Amino acid sequence: GPLFREMFPDRRFVVVSNREPYEHKWSQEVGEMEVRRPAGGLTSALDPLLQALGGMWVAWGSGEADAAAVDSHHRVQVPPENPSYTLRRVWLTHHDIHRYYLGFSNQFLWPLCHLRPDLTRVRSRYWERYRRVNRRFADAVLEEVQGKDAAIWFQDYHLALAPLLVRARRPDLTLAHFWHIPFPPIDIFRLAPQAGYLLRGMLANDLMGFHLPIFADNFLRCAKRLAGAEVDWEARTATLDGHTCQVGAFPISIDIDQFRQAAQADGVEEQMQRIRQRYAPKGGAIGIGVDRMDYSKGLPEKFKALEFLWDRYPEYRERFTFIQVAVPSRSDIEAYDDLSQKVDNQVREINERFGTGDWRPIHLIKQSLPVDRLAILYRTADVCMISSLQDGMNLVAKEYVASQIDGNGVLLLSLFAGAAEEMTEATHINPYDPEGCALRIRDALTLPAELRKAGMRRQQEALTGIYDWMDDLFHAWGGAAAGSAAARPP
Ligand code: G6P
Repeated sequence: GPLFREMFPDRRFVVVSNREPYEHKWSQEVGEMEVRRPAGGLTSALDPLLQALGGMWVAWGSGEADAAAVDSHHRVQVPPENPSYTLRRVWLTHHDIHRYYLGFSNQFLWPLCHLRPDLTRVRSRYWERYRRVNRRFADAVLEEVQGKDAAIWFQDYHLALAPLLVRARRPDLTLAHFWHIPFPPIDIFRLAPQAGYLLRGMLANDLMGFHLPIFADNFLRCAKRLAGAEVDWEARTATLDGHTCQVGAFPISIDIDQFRQAAQADGVEEQMQRIRQRYAPKGGAIGIGVDRMDYSKGLPEKFKALEFLWDRYPEYRERFTFIQVAVPSRSDIEAYDDLSQKVDNQVREINERFGTGDWRPIHLIKQSLPVDRLAILYRTADVCMISSLQDGMNLVAKEYVASQIDGNGVLLLSLFAGAAEEMTEATHINPYDPEGCALRIRDALTLPAELRKAGMRRQQEALTGIYDWMDDLFHAWGGAAAGSAAARPP
């Protein structure tokens, strides 16, 4: 069973994130409330965990309130088909969304952490609103845990300030925070005019978790130099104003069984057949990519590599087809909209250049797909290509390996995705080198079946699941919480 209960037998479990795991939207056509599952690593990783543990998830209500299902405190039980935990919504106004979410979070922190300071936009009204909305999340948490013991788990870069706001009012609670994206080197993070405030907010946690040791190192260095914390490099702690924050690396994963089962469900083989007929009518191999439409994912670089492949090795025209699922994301932001148009143009040009009467080289699917459909695509694909220029982890890499029931596929994984650190058996690629990537695709397509199978089996054996991640993190959190409790004056 999940280690959380062992670590915190009497505490209420509360997760806090910007994005909610279930979004209720009124459907005009159907005439009823529809429940959607937003895209992205965070919610897909944490939902199975909450389902297993129960408890409460506090998040922005990005859809609409379902009057029938929501109580007076904006709470709803989810998932709808099998209610197992409580979702409490924080509603945001138009200005909140514009300045806190699209502004400070996604036009400042996101590009900064993904090493794109050129894409940041600094506005005082973004920062001011980020503080206010963090305060609202903190207030919602405080209300939910009034008179109770609780362990509060904050998620990601939208909520860097909330931990300090909660700790100031309830020093008895234990707080942890997981940062799902990269944490940049100090030379980049110090570009943030509010670096000190952000760091102080995060240092209020008992545990601060990142995917990789390098991100934890970056954070500790920033805590010391930009916030004046005292750092113990051996113990990996940072102490500020008498409070000690433990810092650790916990590489996140997926619910392996969910993908394995979806990839073997009844009727999957016929569907695989249909996918091949539809997308690769001339036969040959299929490649798959699944990414949010985000500049950190290196989509133009990926298509450049494919262009090299079809250009230099014409034998792959009609014999290798690429399916790219590009999930629309943050499209109100100029950089995202620009990328989307750039990708459309690039795909159109490539398809015009190499396409033939009944064969299209790249199929661009600009929508989000449910897990069962993704798992079938992953199982069908001979190659999966991940070309991130910077990525905290990248769960698609793990989803592909988990869904490879027949074990024939090859994973081409960017060196700059956190996943590459653990997935050492994957073929690592450098997306900045499109010719090199084209060669790796060709190698993958010519690799003898025994070698492909052996490689994929090794990757499947090495894959650890979401529950290992959670247990490691809860174990470290339990230790850190005991340490802070002992240090607190009675
Ligand atoms: C990444 C972030 C998540 C975020 C997701 C989707 O995975 O780490 O915090 O939820 O992208 O982005 P969105 O802006 O739609 O929440």
